[in-house]
Amino acid sequence: MDNETLTITDNRTNQNYTIPISHGTIRAMDLRQIKTGPDDFGLMTYDPAFMNTASCQSAITFLDGDKGILRYRGYPIEQLAEHCTFLEVAYLLLNGELPTADELAYWNCDVMRHTMIHENVKKFMDGFHHDAHPMGTLLSTVAALSTFYPDARNISDPKIRRKQIVRLIGKMPTLAAYAYRHRLGLPYIYPDPELSYTKNYMHMLWKRTEPKYEANPVLAHALEVLFILHADHEQNCSTSAMRAVGSSNADPYATTAAAISALWGPLHGGANEEVLRMLGEIGSKDHIPAFIDQVKEGKRKLMGFGHRVYKNYDPRARIIKQVAEEVFEVTGRNPKIDIALELERIALSDDYFIKRKLYPNVDFYSGIIYQAMGFTPDQFTVLFGIPRTVGWLAQWDEMLSDPDKKIARPRQVYTGEEQRDFVPITLRGQRELVEA
Ligand code: ACO
Repeated sequence: MDNETLTITDNRTNQNYTIPISHGTIRAMDLRQIKTGPDDFGLMTYDPAFMNTASCQSAITFLDGDKGILRYRGYPIEQLAEHCTFLEVAYLLLNGELPTADELAYWNCDVMRHTMIHENVKKFMDGFHHDAHPMGTLLSTVAALSTFYPDARNISDPKIRRKQIVRLIGKMPTLAAYAYRHRLGLPYIYPDPELSYTKNYMHMLWKRTEPKYEANPVLAHALEVLFILHADHEQNCSTSAMRAVGSSNADPYATTAAAISALWGPLHGGANEEVLRMLGEIGSKDHIPAFIDQVKEGKRKLMGFGHRVYKNYDPRARIIKQVAEEVFEVTGRNPKIDIALELERIALSDDYFIKRKLYPNVDFYSGIIYQAMGFTPDQFTVLFGIPRTVGWLAQWDEMLSDPDKKIARPRQVYTGEEQRDFVPITLRGQRELVEA
């Protein structure tokens, strides 16, 4: 279209500028030509939390937050959750198409072949304190993998990249299960590549002295669905960390460790752990109105509610609610679900939440299922990190093949002192000491 442009008048100079629009965006660099004179640096945009800035082009995940739509490579999340295995979805995210039967069989074998970890990694994990938070253990151990696979630094070779991708997807459940067992003082269980991705994870978590651990099929299926729902979510905080760190051409293990660190924060993936603590603290339905009052007074946050891009019901939360009922058929009902449902009911009919378009997000119900399955809250974010590794790696791989790729290096608006001259220490006077 010829009129896909934006005309800007700079009232400081009365100059007009015409800037092309593509995909509903303008290029921030096109603003740089807007200057008051030859010494002016040029106009920049200020967008501290990327509220309205597209940092990349991506063909992986589509999200319409106002309509509550989520699609991987064009396929609605609801259909993928109903019909696919997690590894099938992982293949889709990484390769752009659903696998054929042969491709899927090969892919399953390939990933499961990489579930073993070097014995020295086990020794490394032994060094953590008995009550180390499993996210701390996971992120450090993933970073440590870079020392075992020095070839990974050659990130410009697509074959080498692919190898690390399969390694990481294969090893994440093993590392997560070892972090879990380390905390309980239980011996590590080697992976069984004959099992499915989730059944093998359950086997490494929960096998005791029985000759063969048989995962409950309903719980294994629930985990598959939860993993599918968490596999990617376009440019969220941890994926942006993955892209920012990866843009310096750091190796994929160090880069993934950075993404895990970002995920751990309570405003992002760490929210699922916080939701359970919050539900525990509320204790019973009678205490909900008082809790909601505290939220509205700004004293608390309703964890698991709100989202930067969803201004409608998070479609993942809707699916998770259904999965919860299936899991409870096996495990018995987690009483926290009734507090959560009542919290949701009250919040969604309250003006504070309606006005701000705050709805339950993916983290609101997931922890309740994980707890019913036997996980402790400190494991919940790990359960997010395992599947999200696929999304991080798909986005990292896409970035490295993008001709527009450059090292991430934002600008700033400097608000500090103008140039001033050095003052010798003897002339700096006295200030009150502040204890660190
Ligand atoms: N409880 C109470 N009030 C909230 C909540 C909440 N959970 N979330 C947002 N608000 C309020 C804010 O106080 C603000 O109110 P104001 O306009 O009166 O100042 C308004 O809603 C807008 O919120 P922002 O913080 O500006 O929204 P933002 O997009 O920056 O933050 C976030 C999104 C971080 C997810 C926020 O909603 C939140 O902290 N939620 C709780 C933590 C959580 O569940 N995180 C998981 C998100 S999903 C994920 O990452 C996997």
